Amino acid sequence: MIDKIEQLKKEIQDFNLSGNDELEAFRLKFLSRNGEVQEMFKLMGSVPKQEKAAVGKAMNEVKVLAQNKFDTAKKELESSTKKEFGALDDITLPVEPSFTGSFHPLTQALDEIKQIFLRLGFNIADGPELEDDFHNFTALNFPPDHPARDMQDTFFVRKSDDPKSDDLVLRTHTSPVQIRLMKEQKPPLRSIMPGRVFRNEAVTAKSYFQFNQVEGLYVDEHVTMGELIETLVMFARLMYGSDVKYRVRPSFFPFTEPSLEMDVWWGSENGGQWLEILGAGMVDPNVFDATGVDSEKYTGFAFGMGVDRIAMLRYGIDDIRLLYENDIRFLNQFKS
Ligand code: PHE
Repeated sequence: MIDKIEQLKKEIQDFNLSGNDELEAFRLKFLSRNGEVQEMFKLMGSVPKQEKAAVGKAMNEVKVLAQNKFDTAKKELESSTKKEFGALDDITLPVEPSFTGSFHPLTQALDEIKQIFLRLGFNIADGPELEDDFHNFTALNFPPDHPARDMQDTFFVRKSDDPKSDDLVLRTHTSPVQIRLMKEQKPPLRSIMPGRVFRNEAVTAKSYFQFNQVEGLYVDEHVTMGELIETLVMFARLMYGSDVKYRVRPSFFPFTEPSLEMDVWWGSENGGQWLEILGAGMVDPNVFDATGVDSEKYTGFAFGMGVDRIAMLRYGIDDIRLLYENDIRFLNQFKS
């Protein structure tokens, strides 16, 4: 009997209690109601009377040993788990909110513009930011001495080892993508062309050396000025609300004839101002001729709008530079 008890004692001493699983296995094996310690006590009945005292003492020692070993290991495990969680006592408390990203205000404004024109039956096209003089100016009917080609507005790009690259420019507007579309595809065409454009202007709260435009082009037989205005009014209503106050003014662009600009009223009834949101017009026949579109058969309209202006109006941003500095405190304000 004493041997059996000694064996159980040894088993208890050798049991490895390094984790919660082992702790539970130990409890089941030795301390539970049907565990080996209880089983051992059941053998008391068969112990001869004179040995009962000694055997009972030995059994009790084993029981205490097992219980102590269990309690100590449990305490140790609990305190090391606590350390893992640092000072946090209550692991059921809700966690600190984590930071998620958000869409840039320009992306949000651009997404809205895209959605509106997709609904109106336009598809989306794009073209390169590095253009040549032909696409950015000549094919768009800019006379050779037009001031927009002046060094003040245009970033000219030159590959130092290639004199032929002299006419490369960073595109000053998205209109060259119109030229690419008309050269590559046959009418009917109905596309919008979002993209980044560049102008060599002084950086101020109101102007920046880069900004974003969305160009639009619709070419088919019998496209009219009425459809242009209808499309623009539809856009203004969907973008700014059905009660938007707008006006359309005559204007001039080399690549459209006639040309117009659209303004929306920004502010309340008694205080506010007209803000120009886009330029537009009927595609000039010279542009059709430069791109191989039959100007006898087709007519078309084009428009170009500034995305930065729309985002600034929408979110009450009064300094365009904020849109390009990526200050996280600014960007965090545009979570939707
Ligand atoms: N490209 C013109 C600009 O940048 C806008 C425009 C596009 C005007 C298409 C008419 C037609 O100002």
